[in-house]
Amino acid sequence: MAKIDISIFDEVIDRKNTGSYKWDPYYLKKIFGKKDLLPLWVADMDFRAPQPVINALVERAKHGIFGYTGPDPEKYNNSVINWHKRRYDWLIDEDWIVFSPGIVQACTYLIQRFTKPGDKVIIQEPVYHPFAALIKNNGRRIVSNQLDLVDGHYKMNYEGLEKIVKDSRTKTLILCSPHNPVGRVWTREELIKLGDICLENDVLVISDEIHCDLVYPKYKHTIFASISEELAQHSITCTAGSKTFNLAGFQHSNVIIPNERLRETFKAQMENHALTIPNVFGALALQVAYDEGEEWLNTLMQVLTRNLNFLKDFIKNRVPKVSVIEPEGTYLVWLDFRKYELEPKDLEKKMLEEAKIALDSGYIFGSGGEGFERINIACPLSILKESLERIAKVFAEGNNVQ
Ligand SMILES: Cc1ncc(COP(=O)(O)O)c(C=O)c1O
Repeated sequence: MAKIDISIFDEVIDRKNTGSYKWDPYYLKKIFGKKDLLPLWVADMDFRAPQPVINALVERAKHGIFGYTGPDPEKYNNSVINWHKRRYDWLIDEDWIVFSPGIVQACTYLIQRFTKPGDKVIIQEPVYHPFAALIKNNGRRIVSNQLDLVDGHYKMNYEGLEKIVKDSRTKTLILCSPHNPVGRVWTREELIKLGDICLENDVLVISDEIHCDLVYPKYKHTIFASISEELAQHSITCTAGSKTFNLAGFQHSNVIIPNERLRETFKAQMENHALTIPNVFGALALQVAYDEGEEWLNTLMQVLTRNLNFLKDFIKNRVPKVSVIEPEGTYLVWLDFRKYELEPKDLEKKMLEEAKIALDSGYIFGSGGEGFERINIACPLSILKESLERIAKVFAEGNNVQ
């Protein structure tokens, strides 16, 4: 595999006026009410995708015919199978792989199909906020089994879960693994404990593992369904290249369902919504990324580790009143501003109006998120430095906020 030059990750690439949600003045204005913000919010990266992916897409674009196009029947499934086998020791059968444009769509259709209006769905807040939205918007009820924060480390609340799952209307859980925004990579033991409770109480686990490939060196991701045949039969796994290789714009993901009944039901749901054909580029991008992007991913993890270390040192030295929750995975870092005792909206206002940076405010992730901010470190170091300087200007001791 060709060595990747680490400096490519420090090139500042202008993303303005490319339709980028993160950078485009139009979207910043729409979402934050202001255009002049340094954006480190939504979970995509300011890095180009691996070069082999770009090359393959350019070649495909040159062909010029973009009619209805499915994944390459021989190569695509093999790429997906090999990736999960090589990295997670999880053996997937090709029939288990079902296409979904995005994982949020997949979760939406899964909730629609496997729960009834008025049923309750468990999430572990603070958590990726579209889960709560999709549950509510589909007339289901949210049951939040809030994570516990103990000595700077988040844990699942198993006692809370044991109580919740006794309710006959509460038979579905959306697992976020690794967990956005708190950055936990759940251990095998933690997942087994969760799995045991779910199995005993017949709770279906929708396991969103979109961040699974972005794990820091000391940690190891375990695919929930890979733990045992029983868990595989009682869960649905969502994976994609969108976070790993910065391919979110293609809207292409895989829903992997070993249980035949669950799979056929989900496939019927996708067919009912005519969501069976991917776009012409998405499958190709993922296939090439899985086959030829691993060295790029290894380099990316070095860059993210460097950025994370920089952020930790900076906060410790310059803004020690903020605590960094050490992420085990993901490029999203959860910062604890609670010592400032600001109302969530006031904290948000300070970020936008004084620091002039766009982060994700903790409160949007649900209960337990108040007083936190989520920063995205998947950017050139110069951008991260500038954003931290802006934070220090507003929040360092002796400045505006005490
Ligand atoms: C946990 C989690 N799930 C899903 C998504 C979005 O996935 P998709 O773009 O495939 O809908 C994100 C994006 O940030 C995420 O963090």
